[in-house]
Amino acid sequence: MLIRRRPGWTIPDSQATPESVVLARRALLGGAGTIAATVPAQAQWRLFGGSAPPATPLKPLQAPRNPKYQAGRPLTPEQDATTYNNFYEFGTSKDIVRPAQALRTDPWSINLAGMVARPRSIALEDLLKAVTLEERVYRHRCVEGWAMTVPWIGFPLAELVRLAEPTAAARYLVFTTLADQKTMPGLRQNWYPWPYTEGVTLAEATNELAFLAVGMYGKTIPKQDGAPIRLTLPWKYGFKSAKSIVKVEFTDRRPVSYWEQVQASEYGFWANVNPDVPHPRWSQAHERLLGSDEMVPTRIWNGYGEYVSSLYDGLKTERLFT
Ligand code: MTE
Repeated sequence: MLIRRRPGWTIPDSQATPESVVLARRALLGGAGTIAATVPAQAQWRLFGGSAPPATPLKPLQAPRNPKYQAGRPLTPEQDATTYNNFYEFGTSKDIVRPAQALRTDPWSINLAGMVARPRSIALEDLLKAVTLEERVYRHRCVEGWAMTVPWIGFPLAELVRLAEPTAAARYLVFTTLADQKTMPGLRQNWYPWPYTEGVTLAEATNELAFLAVGMYGKTIPKQDGAPIRLTLPWKYGFKSAKSIVKVEFTDRRPVSYWEQVQASEYGFWANVNPDVPHPRWSQAHERLLGSDEMVPTRIWNGYGEYVSSLYDGLKTERLFT
């Protein structure tokens, strides 16, 4: 069902109203329908009857760094990259670390479905035996106007495509992420089209940059950042990088993903980074680096044009940048 509600992050943080002002204003408005959208995530967790679990210990995870991908800017401090999150299943604020610790990541498997030689479920540990892990430092640009630079550990998405053996007719991949009513208080915000889904073309999925991450900063990926496995598509706005993936479906139909269902006029299928194409409500010309808060110019394709721009030859009539 298509519900026209704006996601909480559709105000860039440069324009955001201080939380205290928002809360005071919303308190005046009152009404149960406004609670989930306005109360900080930890408080939402309590409101929905849970007690936020303590932080989960991470396991060390080492892999050789691939020197080909140079970020050209300092790494974001780990503390900043792992505490300023978008993970709507756990709440609409950036402060979801504690509620996200309820995410159950073991056992974990991924359902390979649709147009593949042999639809099946693959346990994460078996998947990891079939691939070679490497570390890649990528820039990440959120559509809201903030950015980070992260040493991810994972493997090319092309490897998963190879293992899945798509049929000749497959054109798109659809990623479905976990939607667990018991542990994810954000799912009670039933105007959002859960589960969170995202999609890419097969050509994008097999581009060398497309990466599935299972770790960051030399450890397994923290729950708030999308444990145990998430996508990283560094030339696209961050919302394309689906977290906590449970299903990858191959199809010949272009999917309509989560944010496109929420607000198609603002978020489309392609969502490639371009500083010259403003969001309908703010400029995309600059980005704020998490950690230093420095403002720097945004680059087309997030600076990865040499790898990806040819994917879009012949698609000039598409809305490639929103
Ligand atoms: N994946 C799921 N399942 N749920 C989400 O809310 N948010 C997206 C993306 N993947 C999101 C998601 C958005 S908007 C961004 S910018 C990145 O995750 C944020 O990743 P980070 O919290 O690790 O920085």
